[in-house]
Amino acid sequence: MMKKERIEIDYTAYASAEELHEADRELFGKAVEAVNGSYAPYSHFHVGAAVLLADGHVVCGANQENAASPSGLCAERTALFYAHANYPGIPVRAIAIAARKEGSQAFSPAYPCGACRQVLAESQKRAGADIRIIVGDRDRILVFGSVDALLPFIFDSASMD
Ligand code: THU
Repeated sequence: MMKKERIEIDYTAYASAEELHEADRELFGKAVEAVNGSYAPYSHFHVGAAVLLADGHVVCGANQENAASPSGLCAERTALFYAHANYPGIPVRAIAIAARKEGSQAFSPAYPCGACRQVLAESQKRAGADIRIIVGDRDRILVFGSVDALLPFIFDSASMD
């Protein structure tokens, strides 16, 4: 029997970084700083990401573009892969993302792209616990309590059981 179903996504919206809980505010601040490490001569869109690990380490990344565009990588995956490569076995607890268009002082929201969501899903699986995602600009910051909110109907290792 056909049945219409729906999914609801839970997230919390904050009107500014100042409203965030201290840990989220600090991580978002690190993502803002990480924007400086962006190499984006093609899109001129500079993105920074800060990953909080379960042992307290914070690993930052920024998007790295390439003349052969598919060879570049988003800020989120740069940070996540660095974290997994350098702190193997330490679960990821949270990621904050900030972005700025070149020549602009204002920040733009940079929601993770599909490929980054998939990588986040793998990080969450490896962690065995939800990963918080903090993303937004100066006026509106959204906090998602789990990657599940950003990527429903996930394909992960369990899909192949
Ligand atoms: N980008 C990121 O690094 N993260 C996002 O969440 C969205 C997009 C980068 C990829 C590319 O270097 C530039 O932003 C424009 O798409």
